[in-house]
Amino acid sequence: MSVGQPPEFRAEFDLTDHFGRAASNSDFLGEFLLVYFGFTNCKVVCPRSLAKLSSVVGRLVAEGHAIQPLYLTVDPERDTPEVMRRYLAAAFPHFLGLTGTRQQVDEAKANFRIFAERKPDPDDPEGYEVPHTAIAYLIDPAGEYCGHFPDHLDEELVFDRIKSILAAHEA
Ligand code: NI
Repeated sequence: MSVGQPPEFRAEFDLTDHFGRAASNSDFLGEFLLVYFGFTNCKVVCPRSLAKLSSVVGRLVAEGHAIQPLYLTVDPERDTPEVMRRYLAAAFPHFLGLTGTRQQVDEAKANFRIFAERKPDPDDPEGYEVPHTAIAYLIDPAGEYCGHFPDHLDEELVFDRIKSILAAHEA
């Protein structure tokens, strides 16, 4: 169903949620998580991924499944809890945003094998963008990796795969 866990992958983070509360991976034990990294100034990739994942999550929830999607920023200098809360509430309300210090964010990125690095962008108000890995990770209620979904996969495939994993767990 899914390919194996990436080498040295650890579904661990120690961050702050978009309400300003401390939020680490251990706070979410008992829940399925769908974890996606990006930044709110992202022009193309994040809006596309978040829209697709939001639709998947909305459909799963409508069918009675429980899953918590998380959006972890790779741009904590701009993505404060307040910025993330407003961005997600406006367009992707299923998601809980997480941010932190630069060090906390870098540690989360390393744990999830996410690559993201600032580069100049003359079209951006602050002059930079942050190209990033565009993969959603499914984490099971024990906090273990149980699948990943690159941005290029279409919605039906992602929906069907996650639904079968959740249904198997609930059975
Ligand atoms: Ni993005």
